[in-house]
Amino acid sequence: MKRSLLVTSALPYANGAIHLGHLVEYIQTDIWVRFQNLIGNHATYVCADDTHGTPIMLRAEKEGITPEALIARVHQEHLRDFTGFHIDFDLYHSTHSDENRECAETIYRALRDAGLIEVREIEQYYDTEKGMFLPDRFIKGTCPKCGADDQYGDNCESCGAAYTPSELKNPRSAVSGSTPVLKPSQHYFFKLSDPRCQQFLRDFTRSAPNGIPVLQLEAANKMQEWLGEPGENKLSDWDISRDAPYFGFAIPDAPGKYFYVWLDAPIGYMGAFRALANKQGLDFDATWKAGSQTELVHFIGKDILYFHALFWPAMLQFAGLRTPTKVNAHGFLTVDGAKMSKSRGTFITAESFIKQGLNPEWLRYYFAAKLNSTMEDLDLSFTDFTARVNSDLVGKYINIASRSAGFLVKNFEGRVLDSAMQHPLLEEIRAQAATIATHYDEREYGKAIREVMACADKVNAYVDQEKPWELAKNPDKQVELQTACSICLEAFRLLTLYLKPVLPVLAGNAESILGVAPMTWADVNTPLSSSTPVQAFKHLMQRVDQKQIDGLIEANKQSLAPAATAPIKADTKKPANQTA
Ligand code: 2FM
Ligand code: ZN
Repeated sequence: MKRSLLVTSALPYANGAIHLGHLVEYIQTDIWVRFQNLIGNHATYVCADDTHGTPIMLRAEKEGITPEALIARVHQEHLRDFTGFHIDFDLYHSTHSDENRECAETIYRALRDAGLIEVREIEQYYDTEKGMFLPDRFIKGTCPKCGADDQYGDNCESCGAAYTPSELKNPRSAVSGSTPVLKPSQHYFFKLSDPRCQQFLRDFTRSAPNGIPVLQLEAANKMQEWLGEPGENKLSDWDISRDAPYFGFAIPDAPGKYFYVWLDAPIGYMGAFRALANKQGLDFDATWKAGSQTELVHFIGKDILYFHALFWPAMLQFAGLRTPTKVNAHGFLTVDGAKMSKSRGTFITAESFIKQGLNPEWLRYYFAAKLNSTMEDLDLSFTDFTARVNSDLVGKYINIASRSAGFLVKNFEGRVLDSAMQHPLLEEIRAQAATIATHYDEREYGKAIREVMACADKVNAYVDQEKPWELAKNPDKQVELQTACSICLEAFRLLTLYLKPVLPVLAGNAESILGVAPMTWADVNTPLSSSTPVQAFKHLMQRVDQKQIDGLIEANKQSLAPAATAPIKADTKKPANQTA
């Protein structure tokens, strides 16, 4: 039966450039969505910029522009970068939108009506000079455990200790440099400690809609740890409000209070879909109502599991809506075995990759070759990158077409021999379609690519055995030549189809050379035909040149100037009890 899928990637913050670390996720998701559509399912892919919060507000102020102007500019930049890497969203929206505000307010009101919102007074550091409460990451001081200076308000990078900002010694505001004071304020909490939430989350994190566990095993285990044993109540209430000044949505009936960015960020998936539904006349409620037949599939990084596996499903459930069908978490990207580094030039932006003339499909292929369904980190080694693109992609796969298409065009008007289309080698490659499809569906792209390359090896062995270049010299061997070239080209078509989710542009170019209409998975069984001649062969893909890699690293080298404000992801990591 045809599956209906709504697929999302995590929403990138609207104050930083898209880099290769981000692209692991967008490429992973895009491949999956393309694959699903290719096999005849109906997958819709939405995403948006995550636009709210203190870091974005302060960044705009630093640039001397409004937050609205900042997020409008970044939206263009992000979309340009995603388009450059062929990430094919049905809609790339913004959390700062009417649709998202509406969804956030509706969910909030429903949670309030369900008795799951509580107002409590808390004390928090306040920057009197700046006139604002300070998020933990905008407070710096001396670690209360080890005495290291210049540590953030929530944890020490030197000894790893976690603490509250009020425990920090000599606190100072990272915004103004002044000494903050503790000040009380009313905050709104989502009562995750309510037994209904606890019970629901215990069930949800272990659930398996359609027989597929909603969480990967390692993620489910982590969640059980956070939830504690049955009867234990380890989950704290979640602080979902922030005080003005704050760039975000005002909380209904709560003057001066705003939704914390992490409340309206996941709701941004709904907001984006609502905007798409409005544009295309789709049934919004059919997708979001409880019991919806559409599967909701999230792709995220492992660092934000807590939000997607606990807070977000609980918000949906107790607002009377559907919950996620699947949360797929992936690991982080390292470059040459180390964390991405601005000084080493390995913090590589998407824009620089394209500007330096590297082919985005090289990266799509490389990531695909290395991706699996776990939360393991993924390493980009440039030596390996060059080897895989040059030896495997160009040397093995593209070369099959280079070695055969020319002879067909020159000697046989581009026509394949129909009688060669059932050759055992081709049948063997066609027989791999189901296995490769399963690998894609299970997000085991590395396995899918290995299968494709194993097929390519067989075809190249066949070419070496048949030696078309020698057959071409012998007028008595023209049938053999046409047969060998036909088999190669049909094999090339099949491999192109198998790689199409990963290499959509290359596949499109190959389809036009082969004279076939855009292929779907079912076209495994639609061989090339003598009635549609193959076009003259063009270069489908260049090899990677080491100079391009050197240029890329050089272009991304930046001096490590001390940051004027807190880091870009200041608001993200701390899962519970955030006070800022
Ligand atoms: O961690 C991040 O980059 C967040 N901007 C992700 C938000 S995902 C979703 F919840 F919106
Ligand atoms: Zn310390």
